[in-house]
Parts: sequence; C-alpha cells; structure tokens
Amino acid sequence: MNICVVGLQWGDEGKGKVVDILAENCDIVVRYGGGSNAGHTVVIGDERFALHLLPSGSVRQNVVCVIANAVVVDPAVLIGEIDGLAQRGITLTNRLFISENAHVVLDYHKREDQLREESLGKHKIGTTNRGIGPCYADKVGRSYAVRMSDLRNLPELSTKLQNILAYKNKLFAALYGAEPMSVVTVMESCRQYAARLAPFVTDTTEWLHTALGQGKSVLFEGAQGSLLDLDHGTFPYVTSSNSSSLGVPAGCGVPARRIDKYLGVAKAYTTRVGAGPFPTELDNEIGQYIREKGHEYGTTTGRPRRCGWFDAVAATYSIRIGSIDALALLHLDTLGGLKELFVCSAYEIDGEKKMFFPANIDRLAKARPLYERLDGWEEDIGQAQTFRDLPKNARAYVRRIEELIGKPIEMIGVGPKRSQTIMK
Ligand code: GDP
Ligand code: IMO
Ligand code: MG
Repeated sequence: MNICVVGLQWGDEGKGKVVDILAENCDIVVRYGGGSNAGHTVVIGDERFALHLLPSGSVRQNVVCVIANAVVVDPAVLIGEIDGLAQRGITLTNRLFISENAHVVLDYHKREDQLREESLGKHKIGTTNRGIGPCYADKVGRSYAVRMSDLRNLPELSTKLQNILAYKNKLFAALYGAEPMSVVTVMESCRQYAARLAPFVTDTTEWLHTALGQGKSVLFEGAQGSLLDLDHGTFPYVTSSNSSSLGVPAGCGVPARRIDKYLGVAKAYTTRVGAGPFPTELDNEIGQYIREKGHEYGTTTGRPRRCGWFDAVAATYSIRIGSIDALALLHLDTLGGLKELFVCSAYEIDGEKKMFFPANIDRLAKARPLYERLDGWEEDIGQAQTFRDLPKNARAYVRRIEELIGKPIEMIGVGPKRSQTIMK
C-alpha cells in the first residue's frame, strides 16, 4: 500500500508524528516538496526529533528515505541533520537517496529571503527566512539555478557561481544597499557539501519506480499544508511549492494513480504562522490558552503560532483538492479544559452562505465564519488508548467533525508521543 500524508491546514498539523507511526509498516518514506522551512516533530518516549529535510521515517533504522526532485535542499541543514541523528545512534548510510535534480539552497538565497522580507515591512509574507522562495524562483527562472548534480562538477559550478553572484550582488546592492557576497566563500561551502552528500545523490525517479516495481510500499510525506499551496492556497501568503497532495506526481515523478490512500492531517483546531488571512483566528485569551497548552511555537523558527477554531470549510476544501480518503485529527487533548468549543461549518460572504472555501484572499477577507457550539470536557485524555476511553463530549466533537467534512477520522492524537495516538 502506498500512502500520502498531507497537511490540510496551514502547516504544523502533526505530519511528522503520523508519518513516524505509519512508517512502521512502510519500506520507503519520500519527501516530495518544500525545504527546510518544514519542521516535523517525532516524539518517542522522552526523545524528541525535529526534522527539516530528512523524511520523518528517518528515525526508524529500517526505513529508506528519499528526498525527491521538487525538494529544495539546504545542504548545511541536511548535513547537520544527518550528523545529529548519527550522534543519537541513527545512521543514514545506504538508506538515503537525494535526487540529482533537486535544487540547492545556498547562502545567497537565505540572504535574499531576509532582505526582501525586511524591505517589505508590514507587507511581508512572514516567511521562515530559509531561502525557499528565492531558490524556487531561480529554479523557475532556470539561468541561475544550482542542482544537486552540479555538485558533481566543481570547476563548472565555480564558473556558474561567478555568474550567479555577479547578478545577485548587483541586485542586493541596487535594491537593498547590501554588501556583496563572496564567490569564494559560497564555493568553499559547495566543496564541503559535495564531499559529504555525493554518496547519496542519484536518479531517485528511476530508483522509486524500480522499488515500486518490486512491490515496496512507499509513504509520501507532505510538507507545509494544503492551504499554503502555491496554486491553491491563500496566495500570496503561501509557500513557493505545491504543498498539497497535488505536489506528489510533479515532485517525485510517481503518478497520482500509484497512491492507494491519501491521509489528511489536521489539528482539532487551526493554527497558522506568518501573515495571511485566518477566518477562525482567536486573537484573545482562548487563542492564548490553546497556544500555551498545545505548545504552539514554530518547530523551525520558534515564532508563536496564531490559533483559532477548527474550520470545516477550509478542511473540506483541502480534502477536495487533495483527494483525501481519511483523516488523522491531532491535538484533541489540547482542547481539554475549555467549557465550550466552536467549529466553523460555513462562511457568510456578502450575505450569502458559502460552503466552498474561497482561496482568493480578497474574497476570503469578506468571509464571516458561521459557528456551531459544542460542549467541552474537563478530563485529561492523554492516557486514552481507544475511542471509548474518551469523554462523551470529546467523542461527540470528533463525530461532528467527521460529519462536517464527510470523511472518516482514523487516527486521533491525544498527546505528542508516538504512543499517544488512538487508532479508530
Ligand atoms: P508538522 O510540521 O506537521 O510535522 O507538525 P510540527 O511538528 O511542526 O508541530 C506539531 C507539534 O504538535 C509538535 O510539537 C508535536 O510534537 C505536537 N503534537 C503532535 N500530535 C500531538 C497531539 O496529538 N497532542 C499534542 N499535545 N501534541 C501533539
Ligand atoms: P511544516 O512542514 C507552518 C509558512 C511560513 C510563511 C509561509 C511562507 O512544518 O508544516 P516560506 O519560508 O515557505 O517561504 O514561508 O509559509 N510555512 C509554514 N508554516 N509549517 C510549515 O512547514 C511551513 N513552511 C512554511 O510561516 O507563512
Ligand atoms: Mg512543522
């Protein structure tokens, strides 16, 4: 069985935890898009892993990991992650494959990201400053792109970098009055990256098709969330890739029809980091309660996450565009202690009731969420092992969400640990 795990909200839904659990029964885990803007957390007992580029299956020594074509790879972050796992006794030797066609994030991309965001002031996107947008822009522009395969031919890469930096430095000086970046320094980093990563770089498309032909089971790990998708999210407050499940075929060359199941991951409420519309946002003490109880601070940047009620209109949209079969609903425990809960079941736009999420932000800005009220529960549910262990009101909350989104909830998170998961 080949499964795609994808976030249905604005990221940080708990994909890392779900992938880690499902990876037990998979041979291969593939990251198909995004870059080190992602921060996926896996908690096993008292051990916590935060992964940015390595697939979350990497903590299981028997799982093969693939970083596919459409991932933008920051080699410094990736090497740091490989070394970090090695220090904890987990090695990637012979079980990590990086696409030769994946694009490389270099220091000037991160610089460009920061300079642009700073210059935008209150109009900034609130990016993770990981160089994601600039790297994807260079990929689309083609002339100034660097791919993993370029690390194989260092003399040619050196010439390429001279051209790239001549262009970028002019841009940085003219637009931002910034200091030029040194070709020698960037080239020196590339030499080190090449030495460390060369053994892992290959044609991952051929490798994946061979593995699929041998009947291996593959898990596709989405990064970010469907509402951050470049083409289908709340543009321009999105990331620069197809972060919904629509990104799988383009991202790794495996056709959508090879995927047997699409599992959407959502929190029992909603969060968002960075700027952009968020109809059910709670800019009040309830939002603050959720943030503190759920430890809603970014895995990559540490920024406080904006928190709000569960939005069934937004989740249903992600389910539709992403061909989602079933859901994992995480952080149910975080809602414990709230007297009453609200779920957005429709929007009112220009006096009309709407069930379809308008991704266009001008129309979304006019959306007024219409809420259903449900009773909360006081009990701590962190020890619940089965659906029946949950308090009546928690079960009713899950069932109502299932009805609103029209898909079964198969997994329920009652705490960050691998073991704190109910299989329904
Ligand atoms: P991802 O980017 O989708 O992998 O999610 P993140 O790792 O960025 O953020 C999810 C956070 O919630 C992490 O700190 C997880 O350890 C934590 N988490 C995951 N599932 C649950 C859950 O069911 N309950 C609680 N309390 N925390 C959870
Ligand atoms: P995971 O995989 C949450 C958000 C940023 C910003 C916007 C653009 O952990 O769910 P970028 O750096 O990509 O140009 O930023 O997208 N963003 C995320 N938010 N989780 C993520 O990843 C995110 N990756 C990007 O906060 O609003
Ligand atoms: Mg995250």
